[in-house]
Amino acid sequence: MKDSESPARSLTRAHYERFPFVQGGQRRVRHWTSRLRPFLSDEVVRDAVVLDVGCGSGEVARGLADRGARIVAVDLTSTAVKRTRAALQAGLVCQADALRLPLASHSVDHSVSIGVLHHTPDCFAGLREMARVTKPAGSIVVMLYARWTPYHALYLLTAGLRRRFPVAVLDRVPRWCWHVVRAAVAVQVGQRLADNQLKGLVADQIFTPRATFHSAREIRRWAADLHLSVFKRKHLLMHGNIVELRHGRTTL
Ligand SMILES: C[S@@+](CC[C@H](N)C(=O)[O-])C[C@H]1O[C@@H](n2cnc3c(N)ncnc32)[C@H](O)[C@@H]1O
Repeated sequence: MKDSESPARSLTRAHYERFPFVQGGQRRVRHWTSRLRPFLSDEVVRDAVVLDVGCGSGEVARGLADRGARIVAVDLTSTAVKRTRAALQAGLVCQADALRLPLASHSVDHSVSIGVLHHTPDCFAGLREMARVTKPAGSIVVMLYARWTPYHALYLLTAGLRRRFPVAVLDRVPRWCWHVVRAAVAVQVGQRLADNQLKGLVADQIFTPRATFHSAREIRRWAADLHLSVFKRKHLLMHGNIVELRHGRTTL
């Protein structure tokens, strides 16, 4: 997949290979299990084929697998594929682009993508791919960054930092700095992360090559263009929205 790839995709892939997304372990598995349960209940997930687009450390997929889902997972990086395979006991995990899913139309029961499509050059195309591969009765659940959140402000405020320094600068940050970052992050996530976890987090949150921010209105417009409906939405105060889309006009 590397030969014909666009510069944007190549940059994103190199970034997440070099600084893979933070691994939060069982705690993060539990966190995403409880966040996703209102969208995909235990009953709905059990024995269903669920696609995880941009599986990263495999923790979202692991939570779904623990509830009986049969997982299909893809990510742009080989590191994420390895980590997700290690996190799961069974399932199909492969390296692929969210914008060109190597799956037949209507081949999975439900699909999820947590914090991924806003890192691609075309969030709408990512949603269109998820809609294509998800069965007509299935749910498509995505977490996307939203505008006017504290994280949006942080991302805008750190634009100069991104312009001035390459992400590799994180390898030169002195250890004492990580102690300060650790304390600040612990207040936010309720967990003291190790240096490498912090590096992955800062690389993702501050140095990601691309992040876009989408209002609920914009998502509703995309949904209409794709003949989908916004079935459920939860606003996450710090950074985004979790949205459940369904085929057809079934808005609550
Ligand atoms: C912030 S991490 C989220 C990982 C995972 N969904 C989670 O919540 O643990 C973003 C992930 O998206 C992947 N990614 C970025 N662009 C992608 C693309 N075009 N296709 C597939 N995966 C992509 C990255 O490699 C990275 O693993």
